[in-house]
Amino acid sequence: YRRLRVALLGAGAVGSQVAALLLRHGDELADRAGAALELAGIAVRDVDAPRDVELPKELFTTDAESLILGADIVIELIGGIEPARSNILQAIGSGADVVTANKALLATHGPELFEAADRVGASVYYEAAAAGAIPIIRPLRDSLAGDRVVRIMGIVNGTTNYILDRMDTEGADFADVLADAQRLGYAEADPTADVEGYDAAQKAAILASLAFHTAVPLDAVHREGITSITASMIEEARAAGFVIKLLAVCERIEANGAESISVRVYPALVPATHPLASVHGANNAVFVEAEAAGSLMFYGAGAGGVQTASAVLGDVVSAARRHIAGGVGVGESTRANLPIVPIGHVTTRY
Ligand code: NDP
Ligand code: HSE
Repeated sequence: YRRLRVALLGAGAVGSQVAALLLRHGDELADRAGAALELAGIAVRDVDAPRDVELPKELFTTDAESLILGADIVIELIGGIEPARSNILQAIGSGADVVTANKALLATHGPELFEAADRVGASVYYEAAAAGAIPIIRPLRDSLAGDRVVRIMGIVNGTTNYILDRMDTEGADFADVLADAQRLGYAEADPTADVEGYDAAQKAAILASLAFHTAVPLDAVHREGITSITASMIEEARAAGFVIKLLAVCERIEANGAESISVRVYPALVPATHPLASVHGANNAVFVEAEAAGSLMFYGAGAGGVQTASAVLGDVVSAARRHIAGGVGVGESTRANLPIVPIGHVTTRY
């Protein structure tokens, strides 16, 4: 096989598992990709920090820029805006394809990155950026490209679902469960992103942009988190036959006489008999309604290092296949220019 050099940036909850799987299943992945995937190095902040899994010490470096030079595929699993953004732009500029799980970056700088990639015929893959292990990016971008998506509704943050679920089923304390979610690798580096709904809003912006072929800026997403949800609210909801879930809703609506888009994240009362009420732990579920396809449901692990590594490695195989075929970039189709309306225009709550 032709050898492709893979640079990994970040070896935290997700990155360490990606490295371990890449090393363990290298031969199988080479068969699938049609190329040998050589892990050229792993850039981190602290080469001596303990890792979730054992990895060869000699692969670690703090010099991300040198590692990116000469890489065919760059996997960005640092998170946040900088240095992730500059690293990805450097990778694109040097002819690499990029795989990232960084929804914070994509929801704020996605167009900049996609345009940079388009200019040089590179691709940015990001299946892991929404709903962890669940395949949802490709279904929206590719499988449903011939249909008209009218609504996406779902649970897209594992940490908050884990917290609300354990508060509901065990009467657990918010702060204790959040600490567990951090220990288990579900939460963002700053868990405010999870509990205040920023992470779900970033994912909603990404999913809505794909579904409605319109660039949905993050500040157009209505956002409420779960920090105001108390044990007694959860109890009262349960007594009335509901569970409280942090929902993301992205839909086409009629506003000001024109077809528009509404994207919102908020804690909702879900009837205990609804399938979303049965989404436990750090799982996620995404319902997609499309005009021709009807209702589709995607369910599975929404957070967690090894689960998310599955989605990342799927992208690495896709990037490798495209790279050796000398293909063109996987472009984003954001040409619809639909107006995105604030929450005041929304008449239906889910
Ligand atoms: P972690 O915080 O666990 O790991 C971050 C890694 O990045 C660490 O290895 C850290 O190095 C490294 N890093 C941080 N800053 C720098 C820097 N300036 N230069 C080089 N390396 C740096 O994050 P996760 O693995 O949880 O998440 C990674 C990405 O995946 C994020 O974008 C996140 O949103 C996304 N994601 C996470 C999921 C999850 O369940 N955890 C699920 C889906 C997506 P060091 O170890 O030395 O400190
Ligand atoms: N912190 C995120 C979550 C990770 O809990 O859903 C997965 O994107």
